[in-house]
Amino acid sequence: MSEVNNQFNLPVNQLPKRWYNLAADLPEPLPPPTDPEEGPSRLEMLPKFLLKSVLKQESSTDRWINIPEGIRELFIQAGRPRPLMRALRLEKALKLPDNIRLYYKREDLSPTGSHKVNTALAQTYYAAKEGFPEVTTETGAGQWGSALAYAASLNGLKCRVFWVRAAYRWKPGRRTLMNLFGADVFASPSKETEFGRKLLKENPQHVGSLGIAISEGIEDALNRDGSIYCLGSVLSHVLLHQTVIGLETIEQFKIAEDNPTLLIGCFGGGSNFGGFSLPFIGEVLQGKRECNFLAAQSEASPNLVKGKYIYDHGDHAGLTPLLKMYSLGHDVEMPEIWAEGIRYSAAAPIMSAVRKMDMLDAVAYPVDEVHVYSQARRFIQTEGFLPAPESSYGVCAAIDKALEFKEKGEDAVIAFNVSGHGFLDMQAFAKPLKLE
Ligand SMILES: Cc1ncc(COP(=O)(O)O)c(C=O)c1O
Repeated sequence: MSEVNNQFNLPVNQLPKRWYNLAADLPEPLPPPTDPEEGPSRLEMLPKFLLKSVLKQESSTDRWINIPEGIRELFIQAGRPRPLMRALRLEKALKLPDNIRLYYKREDLSPTGSHKVNTALAQTYYAAKEGFPEVTTETGAGQWGSALAYAASLNGLKCRVFWVRAAYRWKPGRRTLMNLFGADVFASPSKETEFGRKLLKENPQHVGSLGIAISEGIEDALNRDGSIYCLGSVLSHVLLHQTVIGLETIEQFKIAEDNPTLLIGCFGGGSNFGGFSLPFIGEVLQGKRECNFLAAQSEASPNLVKGKYIYDHGDHAGLTPLLKMYSLGHDVEMPEIWAEGIRYSAAAPIMSAVRKMDMLDAVAYPVDEVHVYSQARRFIQTEGFLPAPESSYGVCAAIDKALEFKEKGEDAVIAFNVSGHGFLDMQAFAKPLKLE
């Protein structure tokens, strides 16, 4: 019997010891955060709701930042390093020639089902070290809320989660999971904050948005003694923590004796795709490799595709400083989609800078999601793993691209990040399916 080699695994002792910071290799410094012309200084407010450790990382230009031993232990406990797999069965189903190969990284294997655990463990570790007994946060898909609830529990902290109502309503399983970890969970807009109460008064049926939930999380942290806010995407320190994904993948491609020519991932605020791609982007900037990058988005929130490169707030109420990023406007209305986690108005400043340098391509799929879940189903039926609705966008783009390369007769080694699993999101797959 022939042996199939479809898994490229790193031993535990090769878990990265340092995070990679692209800021060190950018040809120009990242535009710094600023204050709006009106209202109180948001920059002065930052240390009141963000951890000292992450604020230091946020503005660091050191290329490598050591991962504290305590965080490495937590990563190992959470099952890192995670496998890189070759999609041999999918390749066969797509009838790809030998010169087009597909690989995927399995962030779906985390305890709560997504890459979000990587930064949740880091942030709660720092919160405990800095003496905070409680963390507050927002969540869109519920993946970040679950990850923070889990990580808070491991680090002995209380946790409060403001969850975009659109997803809160149809994911009771994720709510139970967060409660199991001991977190308090509120549908956002909520009655817990002044901002939430104002929005509910205007519209009691408000479905919420990630930008609104962020505003509520920040307001809550500012008003509660001993509480500190943690963010699940967008900011540079979050993407920094996620670079373990890409750093592992670089080593795994050495074991596979192959080299990716195109990296793909779904993209909301940019944390999974940033974590996956930034170490590769760094090597491209250092002249060590050639590779292209593609972000898969929804037309509901095509921040990279249709956004403007402007200074904007990261939250709906405008509590954050202004960040230079591709944005659709911090208070933009976006239609509901099943992949709630990618429905966000702006792209991480560091990924926006990469986009501005023409190194990052982006595609946005229609709001009906029919094509995305049809392509995801080809992956599910061949590889057998269930991607999260969000991750399905990356899977879809990888299949679309592979078929495009086949049509053109070009070589390609495509690697995509399966940022999470969809076991607690079954309705997304069941409801809208009028598949192609
Ligand atoms: C599984 C999964 N993938 C991707 C995303 C999108 O976020 P980001 O672009 O920060 O990775 C989310 C957000 O909730 C998610 O839950």
